[in-house]
Amino acid sequence: MTELEKLNQIPEDVEKELKGIDDLNQLQQKKALFLGKKGPFAEIMNNMKNLGADAKKEIGMATNKIKQAIEAKFEEKRKAIEDAIIQKKLEQEKIDVTLPGVALPVGGIHPLMQTVMDLEDLYISMGYSVAEGPEIETDEFCFEKLNLPKGHPARDMQDTFYINPELLLRSQTSPVQVRTMLEKKGEPIKIICPGKVYRRDADDATHSHQFMQCEGLVLGPNITLADLKGALLEMARKMFDKDRKIRLRPSFFPFTEPSVEVDVSCGICGGKGCSTCKNSGWIEILGAGMVNDNVLRMSGYDPKKIQGFAFGIGVERIAMLKYKIDDIRNFYINDVRFLNQFKEEK
Ligand code: DAH
Repeated sequence: MTELEKLNQIPEDVEKELKGIDDLNQLQQKKALFLGKKGPFAEIMNNMKNLGADAKKEIGMATNKIKQAIEAKFEEKRKAIEDAIIQKKLEQEKIDVTLPGVALPVGGIHPLMQTVMDLEDLYISMGYSVAEGPEIETDEFCFEKLNLPKGHPARDMQDTFYINPELLLRSQTSPVQVRTMLEKKGEPIKIICPGKVYRRDADDATHSHQFMQCEGLVLGPNITLADLKGALLEMARKMFDKDRKIRLRPSFFPFTEPSVEVDVSCGICGGKGCSTCKNSGWIEILGAGMVNDNVLRMSGYDPKKIQGFAFGIGVERIAMLKYKIDDIRNFYINDVRFLNQFKEEK
Protein backbone atom coordinates (compact mmCIF):
# COMPACT_ATOMS: atom_id res chain seq x y z
CA MET A 1 0.00 0.00 0.00
CA THR A 2 1.37 3.39 -0.95
CA GLU A 3 1.26 6.24 1.55
CA LEU A 4 -1.48 7.84 -0.53
CA GLU A 5 -3.55 4.68 -0.52
CA LYS A 6 -3.12 4.44 3.22
CA LEU A 7 -4.30 8.05 3.58
CA ASN A 8 -7.34 7.55 1.41
CA GLN A 9 -8.29 4.48 3.41
CA ILE A 10 -8.56 6.46 6.68
CA PRO A 11 -11.95 8.19 6.13
CA GLU A 12 -13.53 4.85 5.40
CA ASP A 13 -12.02 3.30 8.55
CA VAL A 14 -13.18 6.25 10.63
CA GLU A 15 -16.65 5.96 9.22
CA LYS A 16 -16.79 2.29 10.22
CA GLU A 17 -15.47 2.91 13.73
CA LEU A 18 -17.90 5.72 14.45
CA LYS A 19 -20.95 3.70 13.55
CA GLY A 20 -23.06 2.91 16.59
CA ILE A 21 -21.07 5.09 18.98
CA ASP A 22 -23.33 7.14 21.21
CA ASP A 23 -21.24 8.19 24.16
CA LEU A 24 -18.59 10.83 24.50
CA ASN A 25 -16.00 8.63 26.22
CA GLN A 26 -15.99 6.09 23.43
CA LEU A 27 -15.77 8.89 20.93
CA GLN A 28 -12.75 10.31 22.73
CA GLN A 29 -11.03 6.93 22.58
CA LYS A 30 -11.63 6.59 18.85
CA LYS A 31 -10.38 10.09 18.28
CA ALA A 32 -7.11 9.26 20.07
CA LEU A 33 -6.86 6.11 17.97
CA PHE A 34 -6.91 8.04 14.68
CA LEU A 35 -5.50 11.41 15.55
CA GLY A 36 -3.19 10.54 18.47
CA LYS A 37 0.55 9.91 18.50
CA LYS A 38 0.18 6.29 17.54
CA GLY A 39 -2.44 6.88 14.87
CA PRO A 40 -2.15 6.60 11.08
CA PHE A 41 -1.47 10.30 10.52
CA ALA A 42 1.42 10.26 12.95
CA GLU A 43 2.81 7.20 11.17
CA ILE A 44 2.56 8.82 7.75
CA MET A 45 4.21 11.99 9.01
CA ASN A 46 6.93 9.87 10.49
CA ASN A 47 7.58 8.13 7.21
CA MET A 48 7.76 11.45 5.38
CA LYS A 49 11.49 11.77 5.95
CA ASN A 50 12.03 8.87 3.56
CA LEU A 51 10.30 10.64 0.66
CA GLY A 52 11.53 12.91 -2.09
CA ALA A 53 10.64 16.62 -2.12
CA ASP A 54 7.72 16.31 -4.57
CA ALA A 55 6.19 13.29 -2.88
CA LYS A 56 6.65 15.02 0.48
CA LYS A 57 4.70 18.00 -0.77
CA GLU A 58 1.95 15.90 -2.30
CA ILE A 59 1.57 13.59 0.71
CA GLY A 60 1.88 16.53 3.13
CA MET A 61 -0.97 18.42 1.48
CA ALA A 62 -3.17 15.33 1.24
CA THR A 63 -2.47 14.44 4.88
CA ASN A 64 -3.49 17.91 6.06
CA LYS A 65 -6.64 17.87 3.99
CA ILE A 66 -7.76 14.45 5.14
CA LYS A 67 -6.75 15.10 8.74
CA GLN A 68 -8.86 18.25 8.77
CA ALA A 69 -11.79 16.35 7.31
CA ILE A 70 -11.40 13.65 9.99
CA GLU A 71 -11.21 16.25 12.77
CA ALA A 72 -14.35 17.84 11.36
CA LYS A 73 -15.97 14.42 11.29
CA PHE A 74 -15.20 13.84 14.98
CA GLU A 75 -16.44 17.29 15.87
CA GLU A 76 -19.67 16.68 13.99
CA LYS A 77 -20.12 13.33 15.75
CA ARG A 78 -19.46 14.94 19.15
CA LYS A 79 -22.18 17.52 18.52
CA ALA A 80 -24.59 14.84 17.38
CA ILE A 81 -23.98 12.78 20.55
CA GLU A 82 -24.40 15.85 22.79
CA ASP A 83 -27.59 16.83 21.02
CA ALA A 84 -28.95 13.31 21.46
CA ILE A 85 -28.13 13.40 25.19
CA ILE A 86 -29.91 16.73 25.65
CA GLN A 87 -32.83 15.54 23.60
CA LYS A 88 -33.17 12.42 25.74
CA LYS A 89 -33.00 14.48 28.93
CA LEU A 90 -35.67 16.89 27.68
CA GLU A 91 -37.81 13.94 26.77
CA GLN A 92 -37.48 12.48 30.26
CA GLU A 93 -38.01 15.77 32.07
CA LYS A 94 -40.96 16.83 30.02
CA ILE A 95 -43.88 18.12 32.13
CA ASP A 96 -47.37 18.96 31.04
CA VAL A 97 -48.02 22.37 32.52
CA THR A 98 -51.68 22.13 31.57
CA LEU A 99 -52.31 19.20 33.97
CA PRO A 100 -54.34 20.24 37.05
CA GLY A 101 -52.26 20.60 40.23
CA VAL A 102 -52.47 18.38 43.30
CA ALA A 103 -54.94 20.05 45.68
CA LEU A 104 -53.70 19.96 49.29
CA PRO A 105 -56.45 19.21 51.77
CA VAL A 106 -57.30 22.30 53.78
CA GLY A 107 -58.83 22.12 57.25
CA GLY A 108 -61.89 24.00 58.44
CA ILE A 109 -63.11 25.42 61.71
CA HIS A 110 -64.67 22.83 64.01
CA PRO A 111 -68.40 23.55 64.59
CA LEU A 112 -67.82 23.78 68.36
CA MET A 113 -64.99 26.25 67.87
CA GLN A 114 -67.21 28.21 65.49
CA THR A 115 -69.97 28.29 68.12
CA VAL A 116 -67.54 29.51 70.80
CA MET A 117 -66.19 32.16 68.42
CA ASP A 118 -69.75 33.31 67.64
CA LEU A 119 -70.56 33.51 71.37
CA GLU A 120 -67.37 35.47 71.99
CA ASP A 121 -68.11 37.93 69.17
CA LEU A 122 -71.63 38.47 70.39
CA TYR A 123 -70.76 39.01 74.06
CA ILE A 124 -67.70 41.13 73.29
CA SER A 125 -70.03 43.38 71.25
CA MET A 126 -72.10 43.79 74.45
CA GLY A 127 -69.05 44.87 76.45
CA TYR A 128 -67.99 41.56 78.02
CA SER A 129 -64.38 40.35 78.21
CA VAL A 130 -63.26 36.76 77.72
CA ALA A 131 -61.73 35.09 80.80
CA GLU A 132 -60.03 31.70 81.07
CA GLY A 133 -59.32 29.19 83.79
CA PRO A 134 -57.53 25.86 84.11
CA GLU A 135 -59.16 22.55 83.26
CA ILE A 136 -57.43 20.95 86.25
CA GLU A 137 -59.15 22.77 89.10
CA THR A 138 -59.20 22.63 92.88
CA ASP A 139 -62.16 21.25 94.80
CA GLU A 140 -62.31 24.61 96.54
CA PHE A 141 -62.85 26.66 93.36
CA CYS A 142 -64.93 24.12 91.49
CA PHE A 143 -67.31 23.41 94.38
CA GLU A 144 -66.70 24.88 97.84
CA LYS A 145 -66.54 28.54 96.88
CA LEU A 146 -69.62 28.00 94.70
CA ASN A 147 -71.64 27.07 97.77
CA LEU A 148 -71.22 23.34 97.26
CA PRO A 149 -69.44 22.19 100.43
CA LYS A 150 -68.05 18.65 100.68
CA GLY A 151 -70.93 16.19 100.99
CA HIS A 152 -73.50 18.55 99.40
CA PRO A 153 -76.09 16.44 97.53
CA ALA A 154 -75.91 18.66 94.41
CA ARG A 155 -72.34 17.40 93.87
CA ASP A 156 -73.86 14.15 92.65
CA MET A 157 -75.01 15.79 89.43
CA GLN A 158 -71.45 16.77 88.66
CA ASP A 159 -69.37 13.72 89.46
CA THR A 160 -66.04 14.21 87.76
CA PHE A 161 -62.52 12.77 87.47
CA TYR A 162 -60.33 13.27 90.50
CA ILE A 163 -56.55 13.58 90.44
CA ASN A 164 -56.46 13.51 94.25
CA PRO A 165 -59.01 14.59 96.93
CA GLU A 166 -58.25 18.28 96.28
CA LEU A 167 -57.57 18.31 92.51
CA LEU A 168 -60.03 17.40 89.77
CA LEU A 169 -60.96 17.97 86.14
CA ARG A 170 -63.47 20.82 86.36
CA SER A 171 -67.08 19.72 85.92
CA GLN A 172 -68.24 23.23 85.00
CA THR A 173 -66.75 26.58 83.93
CA SER A 174 -68.23 28.24 87.03
CA PRO A 175 -64.91 28.16 88.97
CA VAL A 176 -63.73 30.90 86.60
CA GLN A 177 -66.35 33.11 88.31
CA VAL A 178 -64.56 32.49 91.61
CA ARG A 179 -61.11 33.11 90.14
CA THR A 180 -62.27 36.36 88.53
CA MET A 181 -63.97 37.61 91.71
CA LEU A 182 -60.85 36.93 93.78
CA GLU A 183 -58.82 38.81 91.19
CA LYS A 184 -61.15 41.84 90.88
CA LYS A 185 -61.50 42.28 94.66
CA GLY A 186 -64.98 43.79 94.86
CA GLU A 187 -64.89 45.61 91.49
CA PRO A 188 -67.67 45.21 88.88
CA ILE A 189 -67.24 42.27 86.49
CA LYS A 190 -68.57 41.47 83.02
CA ILE A 191 -67.06 38.30 81.59
CA ILE A 192 -67.76 35.17 79.65
CA CYS A 193 -65.60 32.09 79.97
CA PRO A 194 -65.79 29.39 77.31
CA GLY A 195 -63.94 26.13 77.89
CA LYS A 196 -63.83 22.38 78.27
CA VAL A 197 -65.44 20.59 81.20
CA TYR A 198 -65.55 16.94 82.31
CA ARG A 199 -68.09 14.65 83.94
CA ARG A 200 -68.13 10.99 84.86
CA ASP A 201 -70.97 10.25 82.43
CA ALA A 202 -71.27 7.31 80.07
CA ASP A 203 -71.10 8.62 76.50
CA ASP A 204 -74.32 8.43 74.49
CA ALA A 205 -76.19 10.61 71.98
CA THR A 206 -76.67 13.42 74.51
CA HIS A 207 -73.84 12.83 77.02
CA SER A 208 -70.10 13.14 76.65
CA HIS A 209 -67.51 12.74 79.43
CA GLN A 210 -65.91 15.89 78.04
CA PHE A 211 -67.90 18.78 76.65
CA MET A 212 -67.89 22.59 76.56
CA GLN A 213 -69.60 25.33 78.48
CA CYS A 214 -69.59 29.07 78.22
CA GLU A 215 -69.91 30.73 81.59
CA GLY A 216 -71.14 34.31 82.01
CA LEU A 217 -70.81 36.55 85.06
CA VAL A 218 -72.00 40.14 85.44
CA LEU A 219 -71.59 41.93 88.77
CA GLY A 220 -72.36 45.58 89.43
CA PRO A 221 -74.29 47.94 91.70
CA ASN A 222 -77.73 47.61 90.08
CA ILE A 223 -77.85 44.38 88.12
CA THR A 224 -81.21 42.58 88.08
CA LEU A 225 -82.84 39.46 86.67
CA ALA A 226 -84.18 41.65 83.84
CA ASP A 227 -80.56 42.27 82.74
CA LEU A 228 -79.99 38.52 82.72
CA LYS A 229 -83.03 38.00 80.54
CA GLY A 230 -81.84 40.71 78.15
CA ALA A 231 -78.34 39.21 77.88
CA LEU A 232 -79.77 35.76 77.09
CA LEU A 233 -82.49 36.93 74.70
CA GLU A 234 -79.89 38.82 72.69
CA MET A 235 -77.76 35.66 72.60
CA ALA A 236 -80.69 33.53 71.35
CA ARG A 237 -81.53 36.05 68.63
CA LYS A 238 -77.94 36.34 67.42
CA MET A 239 -77.05 32.64 67.65
CA PHE A 240 -80.29 31.45 66.03
CA ASP A 241 -82.59 34.04 64.47
CA LYS A 242 -84.23 37.33 65.39
CA ASP A 243 -87.63 35.79 66.08
CA ARG A 244 -86.43 33.50 68.88
CA LYS A 245 -88.07 33.76 72.26
CA ILE A 246 -86.68 32.59 75.56
CA ARG A 247 -88.45 31.30 78.64
CA LEU A 248 -87.13 31.31 82.21
CA ARG A 249 -88.25 28.41 84.44
CA PRO A 250 -87.59 28.31 88.19
CA SER A 251 -84.84 25.86 89.09
CA PHE A 252 -82.10 25.27 91.64
CA PHE A 253 -78.35 25.74 91.61
CA PRO A 254 -76.38 26.12 94.85
CA PHE A 255 -74.50 29.12 93.41
CA THR A 256 -77.55 31.17 92.39
CA GLU A 257 -80.68 32.41 94.11
CA PRO A 258 -83.12 32.60 92.48
CA SER A 259 -82.07 30.06 89.84
CA VAL A 260 -83.59 29.53 86.43
CA GLU A 261 -83.36 27.13 83.57
CA VAL A 262 -83.62 28.84 80.23
CA ASP A 263 -85.42 27.47 77.19
CA VAL A 264 -85.33 28.79 73.65
CA SER A 265 -88.34 28.50 71.35
CA CYS A 266 -88.01 25.51 69.04
CA GLY A 267 -86.62 26.49 65.63
CA ILE A 268 -87.83 23.34 63.91
CA CYS A 269 -91.57 23.80 64.53
CA GLY A 270 -91.53 27.51 65.39
CA GLY A 271 -92.94 26.72 68.85
CA LYS A 272 -95.93 24.64 67.71
CA GLY A 273 -94.49 21.38 69.02
CA CYS A 274 -92.52 18.64 67.27
CA SER A 275 -90.32 15.63 68.10
CA THR A 276 -87.18 17.76 68.61
CA CYS A 277 -88.86 19.82 71.36
CA LYS A 278 -90.86 16.82 72.57
CA ASN A 279 -94.06 18.66 71.62
CA SER A 280 -93.43 21.44 74.13
CA GLY A 281 -92.31 24.13 71.67
CA TRP A 282 -89.28 24.83 73.91
CA ILE A 283 -85.72 23.51 74.19
CA GLU A 284 -83.51 23.92 77.26
CA ILE A 285 -80.15 25.54 76.52
CA LEU A 286 -78.68 26.77 79.79
CA GLY A 287 -78.79 27.31 83.56
CA ALA A 288 -78.59 30.74 85.16
CA GLY A 289 -79.59 32.88 88.10
CA MET A 290 -78.73 35.74 90.43
CA VAL A 291 -75.40 35.02 92.12
CA ASN A 292 -76.00 33.60 95.59
CA ASP A 293 -75.00 35.95 98.44
CA ASN A 294 -72.83 33.22 99.97
CA VAL A 295 -70.86 32.92 96.72
CA LEU A 296 -70.32 36.69 96.63
CA ARG A 297 -69.20 36.82 100.26
CA MET A 298 -66.85 33.83 99.96
CA SER A 299 -64.95 35.63 97.18
CA GLY A 300 -64.78 39.03 98.85
CA TYR A 301 -67.89 40.80 97.48
CA ASP A 302 -70.43 42.61 99.68
CA PRO A 303 -73.91 41.53 98.45
CA LYS A 304 -75.40 44.77 99.78
CA LYS A 305 -73.24 46.82 97.41
CA ILE A 306 -72.77 44.62 94.40
CA GLN A 307 -74.78 41.79 92.98
CA GLY A 308 -75.48 40.29 89.60
CA PHE A 309 -76.22 37.29 87.47
CA ALA A 310 -74.43 34.27 86.10
CA PHE A 311 -75.20 31.76 83.40
CA GLY A 312 -73.71 28.61 82.00
CA ILE A 313 -74.42 27.90 78.35
CA GLY A 314 -74.06 24.37 77.00
CA VAL A 315 -71.97 24.95 73.88
CA GLU A 316 -72.81 21.57 72.31
CA ARG A 317 -76.48 22.24 72.95
CA ILE A 318 -76.31 25.46 70.94
CA ALA A 319 -74.23 23.88 68.16
CA MET A 320 -76.53 20.85 67.90
CA LEU A 321 -79.60 23.06 67.55
CA LYS A 322 -77.93 25.48 65.20
CA TYR A 323 -76.43 22.88 62.86
CA LYS A 324 -79.16 20.21 63.38
CA ILE A 325 -76.80 17.57 64.79
CA ASP A 326 -78.51 14.72 66.61
CA ASP A 327 -75.57 13.00 68.35
CA ILE A 328 -73.09 14.84 70.58
CA ARG A 329 -70.41 12.19 69.89
CA ASN A 330 -70.10 13.52 66.33
CA PHE A 331 -68.20 16.50 67.69
CA TYR A 332 -65.50 14.32 69.18
CA ILE A 333 -64.81 11.40 66.84
CA ASN A 334 -63.02 13.49 64.22
CA ASP A 335 -64.72 11.92 61.23
CA VAL A 336 -63.77 14.17 58.31
CA ARG A 337 -67.01 13.31 56.52
CA PHE A 338 -68.84 14.98 59.39
CA LEU A 339 -66.38 17.86 59.77
CA ASN A 340 -66.20 18.66 56.04
CA GLN A 341 -69.86 19.68 56.10
CA PHE A 342 -68.91 22.75 58.11
CA LYS A 343 -66.04 23.81 55.90
CA GLU A 344 -66.60 27.16 54.27
CA GLU A 345 -66.27 26.99 50.50
CA LYS A 346 -63.28 29.05 49.42
N1 DAH B 1 -72.61 25.24 86.11
C1 DAH B 1 -73.95 24.82 85.79
C2 DAH B 1 -73.93 23.42 85.20
O1 DAH B 1 -72.90 22.98 84.82
C3 DAH B 1 -74.58 25.79 84.81
C4 DAH B 1 -74.83 27.09 85.47
C5 DAH B 1 -76.04 27.32 86.08
C6 DAH B 1 -73.86 28.04 85.49
C7 DAH B 1 -76.29 28.50 86.71
C8 DAH B 1 -74.09 29.26 86.11
C9 DAH B 1 -75.31 29.47 86.72
O2 DAH B 1 -73.20 30.23 86.16
O3 DAH B 1 -75.54 30.65 87.35
O4 DAH B 1 -74.95 22.80 85.15
